[in-house]
Amino acid sequence: MNTRSQWGTRAGFILAAVGSAVGLGNIWRFPAVAYENGGGAFFIPYLFALLTAGIPILIMEFTMGHKYRGSAPLTFSRMNKKTEWIGWWGVLVAFVISTYYSVIIAWAISYTLFSFNLSWGSDTEGFLFSNYLNLADPGEIGGFVPGVLIPLIVVWAVVLGILFKGVKKGIEVANRIFIPLLVIIFLIIVLRAVTLPGAVEGLEAFFAPNFSQIMSPDVWIAAYGQIFFSLSIAFAIMITYSSYLPKKSDITNNAFIVGLGNSSFELLAGIGVFGILGFMAVQSNVAVDEVVAGGVGLAFVVFPAIINEFPAMNELFGFLFFASLVLAGLSSLMSISETYISGLVDKFNISRGKAVLFGGGLAALISLLYATQGGLNFLDSVDYFINQFGVALIGLVEVVVIAWFLRELSGLQSHANEISDIRLGSWWTISLTVITPIVLGYMMFGLFTQNFL
Ligand code: PHE
Ligand code: NA
Repeated sequence: MNTRSQWGTRAGFILAAVGSAVGLGNIWRFPAVAYENGGGAFFIPYLFALLTAGIPILIMEFTMGHKYRGSAPLTFSRMNKKTEWIGWWGVLVAFVISTYYSVIIAWAISYTLFSFNLSWGSDTEGFLFSNYLNLADPGEIGGFVPGVLIPLIVVWAVVLGILFKGVKKGIEVANRIFIPLLVIIFLIIVLRAVTLPGAVEGLEAFFAPNFSQIMSPDVWIAAYGQIFFSLSIAFAIMITYSSYLPKKSDITNNAFIVGLGNSSFELLAGIGVFGILGFMAVQSNVAVDEVVAGGVGLAFVVFPAIINEFPAMNELFGFLFFASLVLAGLSSLMSISETYISGLVDKFNISRGKAVLFGGGLAALISLLYATQGGLNFLDSVDYFINQFGVALIGLVEVVVIAWFLRELSGLQSHANEISDIRLGSWWTISLTVITPIVLGYMMFGLFTQNFL
């Protein structure tokens, strides 16, 4: 039995957890979700979800990992043998996500290089689908969509190489470089964004509060969904990362830093993205509403088009933007993949190297499917299904099982309070036993009826 790996420093753990949290969800998901769900008014359900579910669950998962010192499945089975499957469920969802998250990072790598001479040209949509991905004729290399293959191999080589080096020498070192770099690049982007002509119009559109939908369940569902995805909770990730914490760790305090740090980054991204969208709208004489986009469309179609129009240093700006996607994506992909590697090591008592080879290797092979014509079309549906059902459902089951069936909360509470400066009281307990189960239960019920009835 090898002893469990450990983070070298407190900052190392925090950077790794922030690295997992800050990802594509912050940069291209949050701005669009907030805008579509009431703009300035969205902050009410968003903050409610952050304070009654996001941060409380983060504290809970950190405490579980720290107390039971295992990958998610091992942590659950140490809590109660009968609940090991919940850990594997989280691991499985993480595994699936890693197979397509890697593909998007691969695109971002290509676009970082395209930035040097703005090779996407003026028809950015045509470029993405007919040139870069060439969906019409991927024939030449055996059905593979040409543009994705090599960068995808690079992504996996980098991530699995880092994971192979281990928790302290690999994940911690990588995040110590990636995250400060990401913050600097992002600050430059946002500064540039808010000083563009039209930025004010964009920000006005983003922050203008629309209270008309505030009572609609869909808006609250959007807020909870965003918080879960964005904080990487209920994916087995945060349990895994905290299982490498040293005995003396201020878990509660760390959870607040990670939770508030992630939200700050999200807000910053909203400001940057909408500043830029405002520029675009004013440039083309349309309302901001007409240029709003999220996801793949925002990053790989709308942004390249806007970068073309930049007043100066277009290439540099493109490079910085796509590099920030790559850095944010890689640090998240590391954390997703570590969950199954850690799970395999604990379950089968194999070395980290073997787990990286088998677990990571399998994920990498499956991800190659998305580099084919059919696989690429599949990407969207998998993403939708995982986000709607995977995350919220695991979150609900996790909270209900721990709070109501195992009645573990008070044990976790005293564990956290023993080693943390911030004391957990009734806010934490009520959030997890009452508020979160009710809201998530309602949410799942709504999703189920919408999709299957
Ligand atoms: N939290 C990451 C983001 O905001 C996404 C992510 C999801 C990371 C699942 C790991 C696991 O983009
Ligand atoms: Na995030």
